[in-house]
Amino acid sequence: MTAPHAFWLAGREATGEDTFDVTNSWDGRLVGTVSVPTEEQVEEAVAAAHAVRDEFAATPAHVRAAALDHVSKRLTERTEEIAQLISAENGKPIKWARGEVGRAVSVFRFAAEEARRYNAGDAQRLDTDAGGVGRLALTRRVPRGTVLGIAPFNFPLNLSAHKVAPAIAVGAPIILKPAPATPISSLILGELLAETDLPAGSWSVLPVPNDRMPALVKDERLPVISFTGSGPVGWSILDSVPRKHVTLELGGNGAAVVLADWSSEADLDWAAQRIATFSNYQGGQSCISVQRVIADASLYERLLPKVVAAVEAQVTGDPSDPATEVGPLVSEDAAKRVESWVDEAVAAGAKLLAGGKREGATYAPTVLADVPADVTIACEEVFGPVLTITKADDEAAAFAAVNDSPYGLQAGVFTHDLKTAFRAHRALEVGGVVVGDVPSYRADQMPYGGAKQSGVGREGVRYAMDDYTYERVLVMTGLDL
Ligand code: SIN
Repeated sequence: MTAPHAFWLAGREATGEDTFDVTNSWDGRLVGTVSVPTEEQVEEAVAAAHAVRDEFAATPAHVRAAALDHVSKRLTERTEEIAQLISAENGKPIKWARGEVGRAVSVFRFAAEEARRYNAGDAQRLDTDAGGVGRLALTRRVPRGTVLGIAPFNFPLNLSAHKVAPAIAVGAPIILKPAPATPISSLILGELLAETDLPAGSWSVLPVPNDRMPALVKDERLPVISFTGSGPVGWSILDSVPRKHVTLELGGNGAAVVLADWSSEADLDWAAQRIATFSNYQGGQSCISVQRVIADASLYERLLPKVVAAVEAQVTGDPSDPATEVGPLVSEDAAKRVESWVDEAVAAGAKLLAGGKREGATYAPTVLADVPADVTIACEEVFGPVLTITKADDEAAAFAAVNDSPYGLQAGVFTHDLKTAFRAHRALEVGGVVVGDVPSYRADQMPYGGAKQSGVGREGVRYAMDDYTYERVLVMTGLDL
C-alpha cells in the first residue's frame, strides 16, 4: 500500500487522521489515497493565513511574480505527468488533460505578468471644485483579505489555478479546497508552490470534506470566497454569507446559434464539427460546452445530418488513449443522471438522433431534436455529452431562444456579418459572445463569468485580481498643483 497524499498546511506538507480514495471512473482503479485535514489543522491554516495577510500584501511585486513564473515553468516541465494524473482522477481524455495543463501554465504566466504591472495606481486632481484646491487623490488596490477558493472537478488543475494565481498576484493569502473527486492535481500544485519563497501561511491546499465546508465558509477571517461548481451549492454559499465578497462561477446551458448567412457547405461542415467536438469534450462536463444548437430554419435540414454524423464520429473510450475524444463522466452516478434526463425527454416526445446509451460511467454522445420545452434537459444544465437542436425562423427568434434560459454564461453565434455580431453582443444575456465559433471558447486572460443564474463576478486573471481587491484612496492636501 502506498502512503496517502499529504495536503499542504500553511505551505508545508501535513497529514491528518482520516483518508479517502480517489478512483478512476473508466476502470474503477485506485488512483490515490488522500489525507484529510483535521479540524485543528484547518484552524491552523486559517489562523496562519490571517496572521500573514499584511506581510503578504506588502511583499514586493517581483517576489510574487517570480513565484508565479516558477509555478508556470514547473507546470511546463511536469506537463505529461500532471496530464496523466488529471486524466486518471477525472476520467478526462488525455488530449484534453494535456490542454488543461497548458492552460494552467498560461494562467500562472499571465498572473506573473499582471503582478508586475498591476496597481500602478491612478492620480486625480481634486481642484476641479474650489474645495479641492491643492488636493490630489491617489488610488491603489488592496487585498480584501484571505481568499477561500473552492474548485470543481471538471478542470481540477486549471480552475484551481484561476483561484490561486490571482490571489498570489495581489498578495492575498489563499486556502484552496479541491473537489473530492479530483484533489490530487491541486496537491501537485501545492508541491510547486512549496518550491517558491512565498511566506509560510500565505497558501494552503486542504481537501476538506464537503460536509465540513459550511463552517469554513462562515469563518470571518476568510472574507473572500471564490466558488466554481453547481448552482444550488453556489447560491447557498452566497445566501449563508451575504456580507462576504463572493464570486460564483456556476452552470450554463451553452447555445450555439447558426444564422442564415452561415450557409455554404464549408460553413456548415465547420459549424457541425465544432458543435460535435465541444458538445462532447470531457464528456460535456464544461459549463460552456454546447448544449443547445439553434439553427436558422433556412439551413436546419442541411445542418442536422452533418451534426449527427460529426457527433457519431466522436471517438469514445479509454481516456488514456490519445485517440479518445470522449471518455467517461466523473462517476457512474453522473452518467445515470444524464441517462435519466435523456430518457425523460424521449418519453415526452423528443427524437433521439444519436447516442442515448450508457455503459458504466460512459454516456454515448447524444443528439436530441424536437425536445419539449418543459423537460429537464431543455431547462437545466445537462453537464454531459448531449445536445439538443431546434430551428428558429430568424435572427430575432434565435436570440430570443438563447435568452429563454435561466442561465447566461457564454453563447456562440455563427455569422459572417459584422453588424449581426454587434447585435448579438448587445442582445444576448450572457457573460461572453463568441462569433464564428461555439460558446466553449475561453482564453484564460479574458473576463469569464455569467449573467443570470450562471453566477456573479468574473475570473480571467486580471478580473479575479480586481475581485480580490478593493480601491483605497489617498488624499494629499496642501500641494502646489
Ligand atoms: C467551466 O466549466 O466553467 C470552465 C470552462 C473552461 O475553463 O474552459
